Amino acid sequence: MTKRVSKLIGVGAYLPERAVSNDDLTQTVDTSDEWIRERTGIRQRHIAADHELTSDLATHAARRALENAGVTPDDIDLIVVSTTTPDRTFPATAAYVQEKLGIRRGAAFDLQAVCSGFVFGLATVDGLLKQGTAETALLIGAETFSRLLDWEDRSTCVLFGDGAGAVVLKAEEVADSDGPAGILGHHIRTDGRKADLLYVDGGPSSTGTIGHVRMQGPQVFKHAVTNISTAIVEVLKGADVSIDAVDWFVPHQANQRILDGVAKKLGIAEDRVVSTVANHGNTSAASIPLALNTAVADGRIKKGDLVLFEAMGGGFTWGAALVKL
Ligand code: UT7
Repeated sequence: MTKRVSKLIGVGAYLPERAVSNDDLTQTVDTSDEWIRERTGIRQRHIAADHELTSDLATHAARRALENAGVTPDDIDLIVVSTTTPDRTFPATAAYVQEKLGIRRGAAFDLQAVCSGFVFGLATVDGLLKQGTAETALLIGAETFSRLLDWEDRSTCVLFGDGAGAVVLKAEEVADSDGPAGILGHHIRTDGRKADLLYVDGGPSSTGTIGHVRMQGPQVFKHAVTNISTAIVEVLKGADVSIDAVDWFVPHQANQRILDGVAKKLGIAEDRVVSTVANHGNTSAASIPLALNTAVADGRIKKGDLVLFEAMGGGFTWGAALVKL
């Protein structure tokens, strides 16, 4: 017997050239390198150039992922861009990415789950590949989050940055006897009652403006550790995999203290958690593939490894996904 699975066959990422250090931010807001590092682990963030759009960042990351996967744009018949910062209200940023990559077939659409966008995207693409809607997909998390920031609000502007990461996912028929392969499971959740704890105070149908990020940081923090831990337990239970069998944890990179809190709660050794938050801050939907790309590029994560992704964001949204590479 065979089964159809979704395999992750390539990863790529892109950070804008301009890096802004914590010290740079002290020139414009009342903060310090010490506060930012101690409370978040962030040392710098990258900020897109004025002419760079989310679709540009996404396209750079996608090209690198295609190359890493050894496929061409002609092989792609599905593009999902997880983003909170689309180029325009419509069409989807994915449509611009499709055009920039010269892809002429399949479907392309955006997905909005804020910082959980990559995990929600994995669940969505997995479903579409397994049911035969597409054969080879690009899942991209891309953000120009700096454009949503109130640069006078020190409680948010020091936390976020711009960037993009992409993976190529491919449907494959494998023999049951080959054992677990590809995306082994996912668990995604939303609780709209918590929407006002992390949101943007603008939008096309409310204010007609773009708006700025507003966050009750400590409240979000409290829920993050609990929700992420629950999602990890659920996804492992669903896949019948023990936490010790997981080779690498690749979390959404919001705050080093959240990464540490989850690892401590679940008894995960620090050296199995990939952390890149120091280098780019919270890049929302882009942060997981950015971290994955780093650990694949430096040789830590290898083919055959069991990797767990997890995230939590506005909505609230949260989730986890387990992938055998
Ligand atoms: O990706 C989506 C999910 N988002 C998150 O995961 C973010 C979750 N929340 C957090 O990561 C943390 O709550 C923050 C990093 C946002 C804040 O850390 P905190 O330890 O919860 O600090 P706080 O908000 O309780 O603020 C502590 C103090 C306050 O001063 P007082 O009232 O004690 O005098 C703040 O005004 O720190 C002050 N503060 C700052 N000081 C220097 C807030 N922001 C800054 C700043 N620089 N940038």
